[in-house]
Amino acid sequence: MQRRNRDQKIDLLKSVPLFQYLSKQHLAEVAKHTDQFNRPAGETLMREGDRGQELFILVSGKATVTRGGTTIATLGPGDFVGEMALIDDKPRSATVTADEDLSVLAISVQEFKPLLQAVPDMAEKLLKSLARRLRAADESLA
Ligand code: CMP
Repeated sequence: MQRRNRDQKIDLLKSVPLFQYLSKQHLAEVAKHTDQFNRPAGETLMREGDRGQELFILVSGKATVTRGGTTIATLGPGDFVGEMALIDDKPRSATVTADEDLSVLAISVQEFKPLLQAVPDMAEKLLKSLARRLRAADESLA
C-alpha cells in the first residue's frame, strides 16, 4: 500500500470506536487487513443462514439488522456487523441491509483471527460489544 493511502486509511480507522486508542503500530496492522468499500442503499450486506465471509465496520450510512423478517437493531457510523459468524464459525444469525448508501471497512474471515491475536485491544472491544448486544436482547425479552 502506498504511504499516502495507508496514512489516509489510518486516519479513517482512528475515527472508528473499535480502533480508537490503538497504538500506531496496531493501527498500521489493522490498516493492512482492512479494505474500504461503498455499498448502495437497499443492498443486502449479509443474509441470515449464509456462511460468514467478512465483518463490516460502518464508516457512514445506516443499516438495519433483521431476523426472520423482524427488525432487531439499527446500526450507524462506528458500528460493526458480521463478527458473530466469524467468531463461532456458524451461519449468519441475521440479515443486514443498507438503509442508505454506505461506506464500510471490511475484514475478511482469513484476516480476522490473526488480527485479533495481533491487536488484543480490538478483541476486548468486540467482546464488550457482544456483551452489550446480549444484554439488549435479554432486556427486549423481559
Ligand atoms: P453475524 O451473525 O455474523 O451476521 C449477522 C450480524 O447481525 C451478526 O453477526 C451481528 O453483527 C448482527 N446482529 C445480530 N444480532 C444482533 C443484535 N441483537 N443487535 C445488533 N446486531 C446484531
